[in-house]
Amino acid sequence: MSGRIPVAVLISGRGSNLQALIDACTDPTYPAEIVLVIANVPGAAGLDRAAAAGIATETIDHRDFAERDAFEAALTAALTKAGAEIVCMAGFMRIVGPAFVARWADRLLNIHPSLLPAFPGLHTHARALAAGVKVHGCTVHIVRPELDDGPIVGQAAVPVLPGDDEESLAARVLVVEHLLYPRCLRLVASGHATLPEGSAHLINPTA
Ligand code: GRF
Repeated sequence: MSGRIPVAVLISGRGSNLQALIDACTDPTYPAEIVLVIANVPGAAGLDRAAAAGIATETIDHRDFAERDAFEAALTAALTKAGAEIVCMAGFMRIVGPAFVARWADRLLNIHPSLLPAFPGLHTHARALAAGVKVHGCTVHIVRPELDDGPIVGQAAVPVLPGDDEESLAARVLVVEHLLYPRCLRLVASGHATLPEGSAHLINPTA
Protein backbone atom coordinates (compact mmCIF):
# COMPACT_ATOMS: atom_id res chain seq x y z
CA MET A 1 0.00 0.00 0.00
CA SER A 2 0.89 3.60 -0.48
CA GLY A 3 1.05 5.03 3.02
CA ARG A 4 -2.54 6.11 2.74
CA ILE A 5 -4.89 5.19 5.56
CA PRO A 6 -6.97 2.12 4.67
CA VAL A 7 -10.67 2.88 4.90
CA ALA A 8 -13.76 0.69 4.67
CA VAL A 9 -17.21 1.96 3.78
CA LEU A 10 -20.48 0.49 5.06
CA ILE A 11 -23.52 0.96 2.83
CA SER A 12 -27.10 -0.19 2.47
CA GLY A 13 -28.25 1.36 -0.78
CA ARG A 14 -27.45 3.53 -3.77
CA GLY A 15 -24.02 4.61 -2.54
CA SER A 16 -23.79 8.15 -3.84
CA ASN A 17 -21.74 9.19 -0.81
CA LEU A 18 -19.58 6.14 -1.37
CA GLN A 19 -19.06 7.39 -4.92
CA ALA A 20 -17.95 10.78 -3.62
CA LEU A 21 -15.39 9.04 -1.42
CA ILE A 22 -14.24 6.82 -4.29
CA ASP A 23 -13.80 9.90 -6.48
CA ALA A 24 -11.82 11.71 -3.77
CA CYS A 25 -9.50 8.73 -3.43
CA THR A 26 -8.53 8.96 -7.11
CA ASP A 27 -6.43 11.98 -6.11
CA PRO A 28 -3.01 10.50 -5.28
CA THR A 29 -2.51 13.14 -2.59
CA TYR A 30 -5.70 12.14 -0.78
CA PRO A 31 -4.68 10.63 2.58
CA ALA A 32 -7.05 7.64 2.50
CA GLU A 33 -7.83 4.74 0.22
CA ILE A 34 -10.86 2.50 0.23
CA VAL A 35 -9.90 -1.14 0.77
CA LEU A 36 -13.34 -2.66 1.28
CA VAL A 37 -17.02 -1.84 0.82
CA ILE A 38 -19.53 -3.84 2.86
CA ALA A 39 -23.27 -3.84 2.24
CA ASN A 40 -25.81 -5.32 4.62
CA VAL A 41 -28.35 -5.44 1.78
CA PRO A 42 -27.74 -7.96 -1.01
CA GLY A 43 -27.60 -6.25 -4.39
CA ALA A 44 -27.19 -2.74 -2.97
CA ALA A 45 -26.43 -0.46 -5.91
CA GLY A 46 -23.36 0.90 -4.20
CA LEU A 47 -21.68 -2.48 -4.56
CA ASP A 48 -21.59 -1.95 -8.31
CA ARG A 49 -19.93 1.44 -7.83
CA ALA A 50 -17.23 -0.19 -5.71
CA ALA A 51 -16.71 -3.03 -8.15
CA ALA A 52 -16.45 -0.56 -11.03
CA ALA A 53 -13.65 1.17 -9.14
CA GLY A 54 -11.87 -2.13 -8.52
CA ILE A 55 -12.60 -2.11 -4.80
CA ALA A 56 -13.23 -5.34 -2.90
CA THR A 57 -16.82 -5.84 -1.78
CA GLU A 58 -18.61 -8.05 0.69
CA THR A 59 -22.25 -8.54 1.50
CA ILE A 60 -22.98 -9.30 5.14
CA ASP A 61 -26.75 -9.58 5.48
CA HIS A 62 -27.92 -8.73 8.98
CA ARG A 63 -30.89 -11.07 8.45
CA ASP A 64 -28.48 -14.01 8.48
CA PHE A 65 -27.71 -13.35 12.14
CA ALA A 66 -29.96 -14.00 15.11
CA GLU A 67 -28.43 -11.16 17.11
CA ARG A 68 -26.95 -7.79 16.38
CA ASP A 69 -23.72 -8.62 18.19
CA ALA A 70 -23.08 -11.58 15.90
CA PHE A 71 -23.76 -9.45 12.81
CA GLU A 72 -21.39 -6.77 14.05
CA ALA A 73 -18.74 -9.34 14.96
CA ALA A 74 -18.89 -10.50 11.34
CA LEU A 75 -18.51 -6.88 10.19
CA THR A 76 -15.51 -6.39 12.45
CA ALA A 77 -13.92 -9.63 11.26
CA ALA A 78 -14.19 -8.53 7.63
CA LEU A 79 -13.01 -5.00 8.41
CA THR A 80 -10.04 -6.27 10.38
CA LYS A 81 -9.09 -8.78 7.70
CA ALA A 82 -9.10 -6.00 5.12
CA GLY A 83 -6.83 -3.90 7.34
CA ALA A 84 -9.32 -1.05 7.70
CA GLU A 85 -8.22 1.66 10.11
CA ILE A 86 -11.16 4.01 9.57
CA VAL A 87 -14.75 2.93 8.91
CA CYS A 88 -17.18 5.26 7.12
CA MET A 89 -20.89 4.61 7.36
CA ALA A 90 -22.49 6.04 4.22
CA GLY A 91 -26.20 5.42 4.06
CA PHE A 92 -25.74 2.37 6.30
CA MET A 93 -29.24 1.82 7.62
CA ARG A 94 -28.41 -0.18 10.73
CA ILE A 95 -27.98 1.16 14.24
CA VAL A 96 -24.64 -0.05 15.51
CA GLY A 97 -24.27 -1.29 19.07
CA PRO A 98 -21.90 -0.24 21.86
CA ALA A 99 -19.42 -3.10 21.32
CA PHE A 100 -18.96 -2.18 17.66
CA VAL A 101 -18.66 1.51 18.49
CA ALA A 102 -16.07 0.73 21.17
CA ARG A 103 -14.08 -1.51 18.81
CA TRP A 104 -13.81 1.32 16.28
CA ALA A 105 -13.71 4.16 18.79
CA ASP A 106 -12.85 7.53 17.19
CA ARG A 107 -12.38 5.74 13.85
CA LEU A 108 -16.04 5.26 12.95
CA LEU A 109 -17.63 8.07 10.91
CA ASN A 110 -21.21 8.64 9.82
CA ILE A 111 -22.95 11.10 7.55
CA HIS A 112 -26.37 12.23 8.67
CA PRO A 113 -28.73 14.35 6.54
CA SER A 114 -29.42 17.13 9.02
CA LEU A 115 -27.56 19.75 10.99
CA LEU A 116 -27.17 17.75 14.19
CA PRO A 117 -28.19 17.96 16.95
CA ALA A 118 -31.35 18.92 15.06
CA PHE A 119 -33.32 16.04 13.59
CA PRO A 120 -31.51 12.87 14.60
CA GLY A 121 -33.14 9.70 13.27
CA LEU A 122 -35.17 9.19 10.11
CA HIS A 123 -37.17 11.44 7.74
CA THR A 124 -34.97 14.43 8.43
CA HIS A 125 -36.00 16.45 5.38
CA ALA A 126 -39.73 16.10 6.04
CA ARG A 127 -39.18 17.02 9.67
CA ALA A 128 -37.09 20.05 8.73
CA LEU A 129 -39.87 21.24 6.42
CA ALA A 130 -42.53 20.61 9.08
CA ALA A 131 -40.48 22.57 11.63
CA GLY A 132 -40.15 25.50 9.26
CA VAL A 133 -36.39 25.79 9.58
CA LYS A 134 -34.79 28.12 7.07
CA VAL A 135 -31.41 26.38 7.03
CA HIS A 136 -30.86 22.65 6.75
CA GLY A 137 -27.93 20.47 5.82
CA CYS A 138 -25.81 17.51 6.77
CA THR A 139 -23.30 16.44 9.38
CA VAL A 140 -20.31 14.13 9.44
CA HIS A 141 -19.63 12.95 12.96
CA ILE A 142 -17.71 10.43 14.94
CA VAL A 143 -20.08 7.67 16.00
CA ARG A 144 -20.93 7.27 19.66
CA PRO A 145 -23.35 4.74 21.17
CA GLU A 146 -26.27 7.18 21.11
CA LEU A 147 -28.04 7.42 17.74
CA ASP A 148 -26.72 10.26 15.54
CA ASP A 149 -24.56 11.54 18.35
CA GLY A 150 -20.85 12.18 18.73
CA PRO A 151 -18.19 14.77 17.98
CA ILE A 152 -18.99 16.74 14.85
CA VAL A 153 -16.22 16.71 12.26
CA GLY A 154 -18.00 18.91 9.73
CA GLN A 155 -21.30 20.35 8.64
CA ALA A 156 -22.60 21.84 5.43
CA ALA A 157 -25.69 24.03 5.28
CA VAL A 158 -28.17 24.80 2.53
CA PRO A 159 -31.15 27.17 2.48
CA VAL A 160 -34.68 25.86 2.70
CA LEU A 161 -36.45 27.62 -0.16
CA PRO A 162 -40.10 28.55 -0.58
CA GLY A 163 -41.88 25.75 -2.39
CA ASP A 164 -39.43 23.08 -1.31
CA ASP A 165 -40.76 19.59 -0.86
CA GLU A 166 -38.97 16.64 0.68
CA GLU A 167 -37.48 15.62 -2.64
CA SER A 168 -36.12 19.02 -3.65
CA LEU A 169 -34.66 19.63 -0.20
CA ALA A 170 -33.07 16.17 -0.07
CA ALA A 171 -31.48 16.77 -3.47
CA ARG A 172 -30.02 20.11 -2.35
CA VAL A 173 -28.60 18.53 0.80
CA LEU A 174 -27.19 15.57 -1.12
CA VAL A 175 -25.07 17.89 -3.27
CA VAL A 176 -23.28 19.19 -0.18
CA GLU A 177 -23.09 15.73 1.41
CA HIS A 178 -20.89 14.74 -1.50
CA LEU A 179 -18.59 17.69 -0.81
CA LEU A 180 -18.57 17.31 2.94
CA TYR A 181 -17.82 13.64 3.44
CA PRO A 182 -14.54 13.57 1.48
CA ARG A 183 -13.40 16.72 3.29
CA CYS A 184 -14.15 15.24 6.68
CA LEU A 185 -12.50 11.93 5.89
CA ARG A 186 -9.47 13.90 4.74
CA LEU A 187 -9.35 15.70 8.08
CA VAL A 188 -9.59 12.50 10.10
CA ALA A 189 -7.26 10.42 7.92
CA SER A 190 -4.60 13.11 7.91
CA GLY A 191 -4.84 13.60 11.67
CA HIS A 192 -6.12 17.14 11.26
CA ALA A 193 -9.34 16.61 13.14
CA THR A 194 -9.12 16.83 16.86
CA LEU A 195 -12.05 15.14 18.47
CA PRO A 196 -12.76 16.24 22.01
CA GLU A 197 -16.38 15.60 22.93
CA GLY A 198 -18.72 18.14 21.43
CA SER A 199 -16.18 19.75 19.15
CA ALA A 200 -17.34 21.13 15.83
CA HIS A 201 -15.18 21.79 12.82
CA LEU A 202 -17.27 23.97 10.53
CA ILE A 203 -16.71 23.66 6.83
CA ASN A 204 -17.81 26.02 4.10
CA PRO A 205 -18.78 23.67 1.28
CA THR A 206 -18.27 26.38 -1.33
CA ALA A 207 -14.71 27.26 -0.24
C1 GRF B 1 -27.68 10.08 2.60
O1 GRF B 1 -28.62 11.11 2.56
C2 GRF B 1 -27.03 9.97 3.94
O2 GRF B 1 -26.87 11.20 4.56
C3 GRF B 1 -28.05 9.15 4.70
O3 GRF B 1 -28.53 8.21 3.78
C4 GRF B 1 -28.36 8.72 2.46
C5 GRF B 1 -27.51 7.73 1.73
O4 GRF B 1 -27.41 8.05 0.37
N1 GRF B 1 -27.46 8.59 5.87
P1 GRF B 1 -26.32 7.31 -0.52
O5 GRF B 1 -26.55 5.80 -0.37
O6 GRF B 1 -24.96 7.72 -0.06
O7 GRF B 1 -26.62 7.75 -1.93
